[in-house]
Amino acid sequence: MDGCWHVFLIFCFLFFQISPHLLLFCGILLGFVFVQQLVYLRIEGRTLTPAHILSSHAKSHAWNKKADLVQSLYPRVRVLCWIMTRPENLQKRLQHVNATWAQHCNLVLYMSSQSSDFPTVGLNVSEGRSQLYWKTIRAFQHIQKHHLQHADWFLKADDDTFVVLENLRYLLSQHDTEKPLYFGHKFRPFVRQGYMSGGAGYVLSREALRRFVQGFVTGRCTHFSSLEDMALGRCMEIMGVKAVDTRDANLRETFNPFWPDKHLIHKDNTKKQDSLYSYYKTKLGPECCSDFVISFHYLRAADMYMLEYYTYHLRPFGYKYRFNPHHHQNNTIEINQTNTQ
Ligand SMILES: *[C@@H]1O[C@H](CO)[C@@H](O)[C@H](O)[C@H]1NC(C)=O
Ligand SMILES: *[C@@H]1O[C@H](CO)[C@@H](O)[C@H](O)[C@H]1NC(C)=O
Ligand SMILES: *[C@@H]1O[C@H](CO)[C@@H](O)[C@H](O)[C@H]1NC(C)=O
Ligand SMILES: *[C@@H]1O[C@H](CO)[C@@H](O)[C@H](O)[C@H]1NC(C)=O
Repeated sequence: MDGCWHVFLIFCFLFFQISPHLLLFCGILLGFVFVQQLVYLRIEGRTLTPAHILSSHAKSHAWNKKADLVQSLYPRVRVLCWIMTRPENLQKRLQHVNATWAQHCNLVLYMSSQSSDFPTVGLNVSEGRSQLYWKTIRAFQHIQKHHLQHADWFLKADDDTFVVLENLRYLLSQHDTEKPLYFGHKFRPFVRQGYMSGGAGYVLSREALRRFVQGFVTGRCTHFSSLEDMALGRCMEIMGVKAVDTRDANLRETFNPFWPDKHLIHKDNTKKQDSLYSYYKTKLGPECCSDFVISFHYLRAADMYMLEYYTYHLRPFGYKYRFNPHHHQNNTIEINQTNTQ
């Protein structure tokens, strides 16, 4: 491939000797091919190699594992992450989840129809959208049986969800896992108290997990629909599990059912989110999302690395972060002059 480019560039140079117009043509062609390559790279996760992108910063960072609060939350608010996947996504998506945010979970389980040495847990269900709820039911049964005491909270996410575990632990640290609670981005229809979006990820307390499994033992919950998140939400309501409001002190969402720009960029910032679906009338535009965002959804493999980088590494010089999650803030940017001199 590289060889071809050299020959091509030499031709362009020769053309330029003949006529500058031909160079323009060469440029356009070159640009076209280059953009095609970029688009291909962005879409095709397979072309990414996990270790490379983060190897220069990952782990060596002393950032906030040293911060007392974060350090104390990690063992105290133990989160088991289970990620719903399928055999053809292991290389395309799952290895990139494994290389990024899943590293911050206390325990990770990859749930698929078949077991593999990735490793994935085989749930003995068939593949396909219509089987998603069976996967969820089997996954929680598996967790209840084997891991109930290995974690305090149980997060379900998709293999195209990105989760900031530290912000999730912060939210959960204010709640008791022996109470019947579940957390996520709340949707309005079908269930009276609302139900949590599957793609934004949702979290069950230990008591909620027990009640969910119990619901199927007693027959109070059934596989009445293949709409996984809605069906689970109905079971939660039947079993008396509360769907918690997860917005922050400024009423911005923490769990987000779409990718960042879908929430953040909107020409009319006063426009509300898809009003039919979301339970709360959260704004689109910069006011959409909490400073302590927990999740985004529909992300490509490359986005996992970008979000990992933006979340844990990129910092503007001289910006002193206000670590005060309860602070009711406005959009005035504060720069500490002392620190920049
Ligand atoms: C997943 O991450 C762990 C921990 O970094 C690593 O040891 C393992 O090789 C990764 N698995 C795959 C399949 O990439
Ligand atoms: C898997 O499911 C099939 C059909 O539902 C059942 O007959 C079989 O015993 C199950 N296997 C395991 C290991 O649970
Ligand atoms: C926003 O914060 C700035 C600086 O702290 C303050 O001067 C201003 O009055 C605040 N505006 C509102 C609307 O609260
Ligand atoms: C600015 O930073 C300096 C040094 O870190 C600190 O002593 C001072 O209190 C800060 N000022 C404000 C307004 O935060």
